Amino acid sequence: MCGITVRVGDGSAVPDLLSGLENLEYRGYDSAGIALQNGTGIDVVKSEGKIDRLHEALDGKELHGAVGIGHTRWSTHGPPTDENAHPHTDCTGKVAVVHNGIIENYRKLREELAADGHVFTSETDTEVIPHLIESHLATGADFGSAFREAVDRLEGSYAVAAIAAGTDAVYATRNGSPLVLGQDTDRYFLASDVPAFLEQTDEVVYLQDGDVVRVTETGYRVTDTAGTVVDREVETVDWNAEDVGKAGYEHFMRKEIHEQPTALRQTIRGRIDSFGGDVDLEGFPPGTFTGIDRVHLVAMGTSMHAAMYAAALLTENGVDAEAYLSGEYAVSPPPADSNTLVIAVTQSGETADTLGAIRGIQGTNVRTLALTNVVGSSITRECDDSLYIRAGPEIGVAATKSFSSQVVTLAMLTQRLVKDITGTSVENAGSLLEAVSQIPGDVQQILDNSTAAAIAEKYLDSDAFFFLGRNTCYAVALEGALKFKEITYEHAEGFAASELKHGPLALVTENTPVFVLFTGEDDHKIISNAKEVQARGAPVIAVASDTSSEAIAQADDVLSIPRTHPKMSGVLGNVQLQLVAYHAAKELGREIDKPRNLAKSVTVE
Ligand code: AGP
Repeated sequence: MCGITVRVGDGSAVPDLLSGLENLEYRGYDSAGIALQNGTGIDVVKSEGKIDRLHEALDGKELHGAVGIGHTRWSTHGPPTDENAHPHTDCTGKVAVVHNGIIENYRKLREELAADGHVFTSETDTEVIPHLIESHLATGADFGSAFREAVDRLEGSYAVAAIAAGTDAVYATRNGSPLVLGQDTDRYFLASDVPAFLEQTDEVVYLQDGDVVRVTETGYRVTDTAGTVVDREVETVDWNAEDVGKAGYEHFMRKEIHEQPTALRQTIRGRIDSFGGDVDLEGFPPGTFTGIDRVHLVAMGTSMHAAMYAAALLTENGVDAEAYLSGEYAVSPPPADSNTLVIAVTQSGETADTLGAIRGIQGTNVRTLALTNVVGSSITRECDDSLYIRAGPEIGVAATKSFSSQVVTLAMLTQRLVKDITGTSVENAGSLLEAVSQIPGDVQQILDNSTAAAIAEKYLDSDAFFFLGRNTCYAVALEGALKFKEITYEHAEGFAASELKHGPLALVTENTPVFVLFTGEDDHKIISNAKEVQARGAPVIAVASDTSSEAIAQADDVLSIPRTHPKMSGVLGNVQLQLVAYHAAKELGREIDKPRNLAKSVTVE
């Protein structure tokens, strides 16, 4: 949940550390800090609050050092305070550590160390690490061995980086939390994610669980836990610094909403053979899934809604498919065997719940597939295969373009699965795939003409906001409500339209606008649901194309979408709902890119 960054090289490390933390602030913004080797000892500057508070704390301080570590925090153990901010040090102040993840056995280690006279100054789990290193250094071990022995004692998930006085080496390792190395001509970086140093270099090494890396000004060495050197490939990421900048938009979320046409073209490129009315998914030729007779999709949050969308598409094309919350799947996995395919849907590829669900079925003969946005992420190493959604970096905590690219990738995968599993194509495959290839242009049309800002302003002072949909649009109703909740902090709920009369209708009043998603297929059913809420005085905002003329005539307001295949109208409708949530949050003056209490990838269960 936190963001860690390391910098080793020529000149002062401070500017690189601070820009790294700014680029990682979407991972947590409760406190921030840096530590530098100053040649004789270590300087630590840290403070509660966002990076700008750290800038204030650094004002007027003459810090020197080419080797440093930094951290931006999302609290798990201990509230956001200066004391609980990272970096944490040992009793001598000669060892400093930053950490992302959770040390599950920290209490036991803390008691043991305290019994040996170590004094703790924070409530965090992390602080046991510098004291462990200190205790091994005290036995005469060198820094590298002390680091390794300390890490051997840790249980849980972690990415850790440490520096010590009297040596210009940084040691770091990972287990379950992300850590990447960046190499530039005159310096090296380590970080929780590539955006931290993408302004400096696109040469990246993806470290794996158990890797221990030693970085000095002259180079780096990766070894396994036993100390044996391991070879890790240097890869060039096809993202550039602009990708992680705001490109002139006020918020990353707005930028990423407007990036959807480009992102979707990347997602679709070379994957639809429109002549054959089929898909061509790299690494997944026809027959890849022959023998599979059941599909489980596991995910959380927005990814869960994309998974539900896919489950609806698969089910109606004769595949036994279901979407499960990863956290629940991990604790009570449904029956599965070698004919079961489990698809882990996760933008970041680092969500602990989803990793937990996959790790829970490892060692069984169940097949697993990661559907993710991040090449080299942990989920790609936990699953048998990976399929990328190619949405590009998503920085805003509220997922937007990743949802559209997830659904479109899953729609293409559905064609492959249905054909391999049932032997027949998806119903009207040709027109569905044609509609998929038109989606980027359709989304651009919405972005150019949307009236969402006016709708958001009109209904801003409402008591609550409800979203209704059926089938694939039930998932979109849930997604619309999640987006609204996440960034406006207002009461918002999504329902299956059929669910309304069984309880939620009691919540409906003239002060609860209801967004109703129409697909242009079987609209009569959901039109009656719209009438039910209007009968209670609630305004209805129809999200529809002109194929739903009766719905539009019935509605109080309309968010129009271009005509498309009924199974793709949800993707278009969701873009309108993203914009409504964005404009409402803007009107309310919310921190749109860093909503309270949330973080971009949830790396703890
Ligand atoms: C969505 O806006 C949220 N950021 C959150 O619900 C997110 O979708 C969820 O944590 C899953 O993340 P993942 O796709 O990276 O696994």
